[in-house]
Amino acid sequence: MATVLDALSSAETVDLFKKYVIANYNRYPVNLVRGEGSVIWDSEGHRYLDFFPGWGCNLLGHCPPSVVQAVQEQVATLIHVPNTWLMDVQGRWAQMLSERSFGGQAFFCNSGAEANEAAIKLARLHSPPGKHKIITFEGGFHGRTLGALTATAQPKYHEGLGPLVAGFVYCPWNDLEAVTRLVDHETAAIMIEPIQGEGGVRIPSREFLAGLRRLCDQHGLLLIFDEVQTGCGRTGHWFSYQRFGVTPDIMTLAKSLCGGIAGGAMLARPEVAPSLRPGMHAATFGGNPIASRAGIATLEAIEQQGLLEGANQLERLFRDRFEALRQECDIIREVRACGVMIGIELSVEGAPVVKRCLEQRLLINCTQGRVIRLLPALNMTIEQAEEGCEILANAIRDLAG
Ligand SMILES: Cc1ncc(COP(=O)(O)O)c(C=O)c1O
Repeated sequence: MATVLDALSSAETVDLFKKYVIANYNRYPVNLVRGEGSVIWDSEGHRYLDFFPGWGCNLLGHCPPSVVQAVQEQVATLIHVPNTWLMDVQGRWAQMLSERSFGGQAFFCNSGAEANEAAIKLARLHSPPGKHKIITFEGGFHGRTLGALTATAQPKYHEGLGPLVAGFVYCPWNDLEAVTRLVDHETAAIMIEPIQGEGGVRIPSREFLAGLRRLCDQHGLLLIFDEVQTGCGRTGHWFSYQRFGVTPDIMTLAKSLCGGIAGGAMLARPEVAPSLRPGMHAATFGGNPIASRAGIATLEAIEQQGLLEGANQLERLFRDRFEALRQECDIIREVRACGVMIGIELSVEGAPVVKRCLEQRLLINCTQGRVIRLLPALNMTIEQAEEGCEILANAIRDLAG
């Protein structure tokens, strides 16, 4: 039996996947076997610089030492106990999240979609009878389970899956008048990513988010922020709502929450949280001791290493590099950056840029066809950032001809 120590070649792994793994992902034909910080290696020994580690999950890079140590200790002590018992680690983790955000209470789960399902259920449970509708936004992304998928107002993800969940209403992005028109006596909540990630790193105006807060207060609606991609330090604040100065009633987290270990959470204001009463929701593995230790270690590492300030420094570096390139390459339409969440919108398809970068062993992403998306680690070194920017800039120059 093969182990990590005698890894298969990339070609052998391709064969294994062809036979035994459902092909629901478009995968690069590369077998990744080891990672350290912002660098990852394949089974042929090639080194890749990773500007998209773990699809936004590895906010501290690959295998951050303090998370590794915490998980190793926990695995040897207590792996899993049911949520019908107490675990001090889960309680401490909830306290840390609450103290760094709006003083809410936490429900733990394993992924972003699950966190959003919990938020949708809580919004319905908390609202008076007859109020059940949730307004979400075109171009948004909330996950692949049926509730979260219905909340995702992108028709391409719905094809062939209907009927979807009733009670979702879609609204144009960043258009407060449109939202105002959609609110009616059946509306329970407004759910939004404070910055759209998969939708193309689209940053709304502060006035828009503040307007949503006002609208919710006027009509007794809940404001739900999906911070699955923007949370936990990604934008240079613990949570991106703090950057905008607009506080939600419910916030969902996952991706980088546990430094690369699977974990999700929903935080709700103390007045709202009790509506998720016993028996109404659960996640068997939610808030398990390993995820809890990893989550605590992640928050501590960000704090102890001053990485929130570091995010702002990296934001400036990326913004400066690609704004300068924009003057040179007219295929760059716009550069959008918020901490270590960067979008470079092109006027042409971005796939050739991703391919060129992969050939140069730089891992990046392209979303919505034309937006180069980078979600680098908070602790990436300046040298690594410069190295990757140079490769990416050359790939964009090549495409610009
Ligand atoms: C904003 C947002 N919400 C939810 C999700 C779904 O998270 P998961 O894949 O962990 O279910 C994602 C994933 O990309 C996301 O970016």
